[in-house]
Amino acid sequence: MRLVLVGPPGAGKGTQAQFIASNLSIPKISTGDIFRANVSGGTELGKLAKEYMDRGDLVPDEVTIAMVRNRLAEKDAQDGFLLDGFPRNVPQAEVLKKMLAEMGSGLDIVLELVVDDEEVVRRLAGRRTCAQCGHISHVEFDDKRDDICDVCGGPLFQRDDDKEETVRHRLEVYARQTAPLVSFYASENLLVGVDATGPVEEVTQRSMEALKPFI
Ligand code: AP5
Ligand code: ZN
Repeated sequence: MRLVLVGPPGAGKGTQAQFIASNLSIPKISTGDIFRANVSGGTELGKLAKEYMDRGDLVPDEVTIAMVRNRLAEKDAQDGFLLDGFPRNVPQAEVLKKMLAEMGSGLDIVLELVVDDEEVVRRLAGRRTCAQCGHISHVEFDDKRDDICDVCGGPLFQRDDDKEETVRHRLEVYARQTAPLVSFYASENLLVGVDATGPVEEVTQRSMEALKPFI
């Protein structure tokens, strides 16, 4: 299956991506995670991306597209993948369509996680990420410990771009640049909306139900 997850910052894309990708045995390709790994590794790509990420702006398309092109060329992505955080605007979506057509394939489905702004701000304010395995949790909604990872016991950290003013800016960037993707994919007959409110497991169930026809 070739699947894209779209939705505002904090909709739960990363959270659902970890479960959906593992249920379907496909690689999860998250552009945000790849950028953050480059930032912590101090690479040239990381230095460039950090400046944009700290402001809550999109990293320039040519940089992001080259990175995704390389990742999609890897062996594990040949029979399917889940893209989380890419495409992020209509030009990226058009390049992705062309890239996949050149490889003789195309997307099966685009899942839109639907949630309102108020919930997004609540979710991002309490988000914690594991520095060791990348597992995503929440201080309020997850009843386990707030300082160490439930999965691997690694230390948890709060993302630099989850400060309130940066979150607000990321929501504006989403409305301006990413929301038009929803009508783009609707016109391509690829879009399926999923209610992303309620417990994580219920959202996963609704997502898997929507994906059933493509499995
Ligand atoms: P990226 O990492 O993609 O960030 P984002 O899209 O803003 O999305 P988030 O990761 O913030 O949220 P999410 O939807 O994954 O939510 P999560 O599952 O964590 O991008 C970061 C930056 O990288 C961008 O700003 C940009 O600079 C750059 N970038 C990335 N891709 C790019 C591209 N294609 N082009 C250009 N630049 C790009 O959940 C949030 C919280 O809610 C967690 O704490 C979680 O535990 C909790 N939660 C999740 N689901 C539920 C639920 N059902 N109930 C209660 N809590 C829940
Ligand atoms: Zn962990």
